[in-house]
Amino acid sequence: MPVDETTMPPRPNLIDFHGVSMVHYFTDNWEKIQNFKARPDDILIATYPKAGTTWVSYILDLLYFSQTQSDRQTSIPLNDRVPFLEVTSPNQSSGTDLADSLDTCPRLIKTHLPVQLIPKSFWEQKCRVVYVARNAKDNAVSYFHFDRMICVQPEPGDWNSYLQRFIDGKMVFGSWYDHVTGWWEKKQSHPEIHYMFFEDMVEDTGREINKLCSFLGLTSTTKEKDQINNLVQFDNMRKNDMANYSTVKAMDFKISPFMRKGKVGDWKNHFTVAQNEQFDEDYKKKMKNTTLHFRTVV
Ligand code: PPS
Repeated sequence: MPVDETTMPPRPNLIDFHGVSMVHYFTDNWEKIQNFKARPDDILIATYPKAGTTWVSYILDLLYFSQTQSDRQTSIPLNDRVPFLEVTSPNQSSGTDLADSLDTCPRLIKTHLPVQLIPKSFWEQKCRVVYVARNAKDNAVSYFHFDRMICVQPEPGDWNSYLQRFIDGKMVFGSWYDHVTGWWEKKQSHPEIHYMFFEDMVEDTGREINKLCSFLGLTSTTKEKDQINNLVQFDNMRKNDMANYSTVKAMDFKISPFMRKGKVGDWKNHFTVAQNEQFDEDYKKKMKNTTLHFRTVV
């Protein structure tokens, strides 16, 4: 849906929020976010932006509700079925209000918060968390195109300066490096976190759906899982107006669609040789103390 420039506020500036770069849209409602009352059966879908949030949200929504509430799939946009916990945006219910009004069991809730900012009730209630991570290079490229087309994020500028900001962690929701490693460390002592990779989903979506079912204790049949696997393939999701974000006013699909390419390795079409060398050198330093590994090709 095209953006109506006359009704949208100017793009926000980056602010420092407890040491994490943010925009006010994700901090304005902070008291309610921090005091959010999670329920034991809530499922939190946590990601750094552009890592596969929507893909996993759709899979989980189908796994839980496609058999019992089929009209949900054709009548309610995915972003209303899976509220974005920390968002407040012009003329819309806040994420916390939307989550509070959900009548599903479980409630599926999306967040991009780094692990240290997650409301404590999710840990107290031992909620299950599905974390999705994507390799830094493709994540940066996807985020760049997203920031070009959505007016509630800061101006991305040109690719070169954007990549430098990504390296410096001056992105909305902070440093990719801190985000993916922070959640990875947390996972080591929290079995209720299922840590997945975008690249694995591209390689074999069915296998990843099976792993999700094991983690969540779901007994979906092979036929159900095959149907879900088909519905969540990129080309089908891209055409699905209830899952492709075409109902969101702040996005301008003429600049770049939300469902853009859905590939591993698109970074090769963006990084110059020099950018790639500089990125790799810096990456080695930043990631030297973690056991976390990513694939940049599949
Ligand atoms: S957001 O705004 O943070 O919620 O975005 P998010 O959903 O995390 O990430 C969007 C990217 O995921 C791609 N995507 C998919 N790829 C492959 N298959 C499927 N089904 C799929 N669904 C979403 C989407 O195209 C964005 O990646 P890019 O690289 O920009 O295409």
